[in-house]
Amino acid sequence: MKFPKGFLIGGATSAPQIEGAYNKDGKSLTVADLKYFEDIKNRKDIKETKITNSKKIKFAFENESNLFFPKRVGIDFYNNYKEDIKLIYEMGMNAFRLSISWSRIIPNVDDNKVCKKGIDFYKNVFEECKKYNIEPIVTISHFDLPYKIVKKYGGWKNKKVIDLYIDYASVVLNEFKDYVKYWIPFNEINATIFSTWVSAGIIVDKEENLLESCYQALHNQFVANAKIIKIAKKINEKFKLGCMLAQFTCYSLDCKPENVLYNLKDQQIKVYFYYDLMVKGVYPKYMLKYFKDNNINLDIELDELELIRDNKIDYISFSYYMSGVNSLTENSKVEANLVKMGKNPYLTESEWGWQIDPIGLRITLNDLWDRYNLPLFVAENGIGINDKLENDFTIIDDNRIEYLKLHLNELKNSIQDGVNVFGYTTWTPIDVISSGSNEMSKRYGLIYVDQDDYGNGSKKRYKKNSYFWFKKFIDDSLY
Ligand code: BG6
Repeated sequence: MKFPKGFLIGGATSAPQIEGAYNKDGKSLTVADLKYFEDIKNRKDIKETKITNSKKIKFAFENESNLFFPKRVGIDFYNNYKEDIKLIYEMGMNAFRLSISWSRIIPNVDDNKVCKKGIDFYKNVFEECKKYNIEPIVTISHFDLPYKIVKKYGGWKNKKVIDLYIDYASVVLNEFKDYVKYWIPFNEINATIFSTWVSAGIIVDKEENLLESCYQALHNQFVANAKIIKIAKKINEKFKLGCMLAQFTCYSLDCKPENVLYNLKDQQIKVYFYYDLMVKGVYPKYMLKYFKDNNINLDIELDELELIRDNKIDYISFSYYMSGVNSLTENSKVEANLVKMGKNPYLTESEWGWQIDPIGLRITLNDLWDRYNLPLFVAENGIGINDKLENDFTIIDDNRIEYLKLHLNELKNSIQDGVNVFGYTTWTPIDVISSGSNEMSKRYGLIYVDQDDYGNGSKKRYKKNSYFWFKKFIDDSLY
């Protein structure tokens, strides 16, 4: 089966995981720049690594010269973007999802001084995309809040950050309006609850009522999202703005009604709430009840609710890596994206413990399409593998090929089911630094980067077996 005409197929990345050059050409420090590799104690259980507390931040600053900060180095896309985009093009990809780093555009955050070198960098990147007819899909904020937002404003829970974000995002929309049509204001917006540091600049031990602060931060992001949709449509009414969620598809462990209900409630809170709000424009009743039950009192203004009601998204995008299981009673848990999930006896797991569930992608796409009737975009899907560069410079990543083959097959099945999916970008076209575990060894790319967990290596790029497989898949699947 071929994809519908105009289907976007490519790869997804983020600025903090690829760019490097963390202090070059005026860029200021971000929350991602403070995550150090030594924080990984046991990569099979990285819960501790994901959490950033005041002790860790203090330690990072006091020991800056002795620690290694992988996201300061990335894979040096900053200097290598021409070669990388060419490789992406040669794989047959017609889409490239990337993010812009706020701290390159307005490094001081609140002085409105736009950094020309930052603008030039992204313009050069977009020029390269244009040269190869690659459609850029741009995330305006992807886990790299400027550190100053944390230090001076306490992160996204402060309403002042809405204005600062609007200043930044308006510059981005205006400067890159001739290159970009598809925008994603926030990566995995639900990560604000599960990964508070990178998403919201919230330090877990600094909050009296952590959950309340996180939901306040989230509300502020919803307001910013609505405002930026309004601004974007004035710049170009053809712009398409989408939400982006970490999709935590879960099944009830069995057909016991109590478990089914528990699973439904869990999905409402972790997933549907976000779509419901950004698609329908109102806070769902079940969420207001959840806030009440959990002693969460938010500062929500009437005009903010009007903004959210009047400025809704054009499409839904999400990351899909794995699925999980829910039950009222204790069942064993496995690692998953941002959270732990209940173990499913019918599924196998990746090296990092994430459960592999291609059919779950079809279930998710059908469910979201039935529920919202908005075009869907799979913004991330892929598998972390500790790939090895062989002596003859090949990389045999058959497990990745299998993973992609099965998921893309289910994507095609969904389209045949009648679901409106307009694009798919695999995480990632090229190896990047892992977001959650901050290591290079957890490789997602179809292109291998010769670099280890401490940033050592030639940084040369090599095509993995999956690169050739993907190229053929694209050739066979596009008109
Ligand atoms: C998503 C993020 O959470 O999952 C990416 O949007 C991230 O930034 C990806 O890299 C995979 O997660 P991880 O922790 O394995 O890198």
